[in-house]
Amino acid sequence: MATIVGGIATSHIPAIGNAIANRLQNEPYWKPFFDGYPPVRAWLDKVQPDIAIVIYNDHGLNFFLDKLPTFAVGAAAEYRNKDEGWGLRPVTPFPGAPEFSWHLIESLVGEEFDLTTCQEMAVDHGFAVPMQLMWPDRAAWPVRTVPIHVNTVQHPLPSPARCYKFGQALGRAVASWPGNEKVVVLGTGGLSHQLDGERAGFINKPFDLFCMDKIVDDPALLAQYSIRDIVELAGTQGPELVHWLMMRGALGEQVRKLHSNYHVPISNTGAGLLLLEAA
Ligand code: DHB
Ligand code: FE
Repeated sequence: MATIVGGIATSHIPAIGNAIANRLQNEPYWKPFFDGYPPVRAWLDKVQPDIAIVIYNDHGLNFFLDKLPTFAVGAAAEYRNKDEGWGLRPVTPFPGAPEFSWHLIESLVGEEFDLTTCQEMAVDHGFAVPMQLMWPDRAAWPVRTVPIHVNTVQHPLPSPARCYKFGQALGRAVASWPGNEKVVVLGTGGLSHQLDGERAGFINKPFDLFCMDKIVDDPALLAQYSIRDIVELAGTQGPELVHWLMMRGALGEQVRKLHSNYHVPISNTGAGLLLLEAA
């Protein structure tokens, strides 16, 4: 069976992609953020996962408000990013794992998670920025990938409880794959941020730190919050926290926290990083 070797939660702010492209990692604004990542990269180099499942929300590149699936899983041989208007440059295409994707889809639909299946899928900053943070400066991506999109853009959004259960079903789906691949699950985005409206710029550091703590030892507690609660506590884009809950659900009951970092603000966002190993 395939094994989930660990889970990583990371911010996916588009400005990070530009900071990488312009080599700003050591600028005072960026250094405390980028300094969080070397331990995660060292762990990835040691563990050498074969496949990365990347959980994110498409922000309007592949899906727009006219057609926006609640959950969508990529089943393509390759995924490409595009400039979404931030000036982000296209990077080396990301290799897919279509047979593995179809197995996950079969298993998840079998557990009554109705999905949109994507044999073509453009991936936006929610996917590409975390990949660049994990594996910078590589001539080729060292992992095959499965993008999982969740609607955290247009209400109604799936509840945290539903997303946590999706993650648990994803864990079972990986475990029932007959190959012996090592799989890492990335939950991207968050933490508190509000990009629009009256509370634009709203950040809630105490709540972010509470989430970073509870996601490790008591994710079921976070799963009890409603989307409305999370918007109130963490801003209109705070519901990206559900991607973290999906990653956490996939890891099973017990995990070990190997590393964490939190820096605020980056682009008006609480930027969290967690590395978890299945215990
Ligand atoms: C921004 C965009 C995001 O998708 C996000 O999660 C955080 C910040 C931004 O536009 O700054
Ligand atoms: Fe986002």
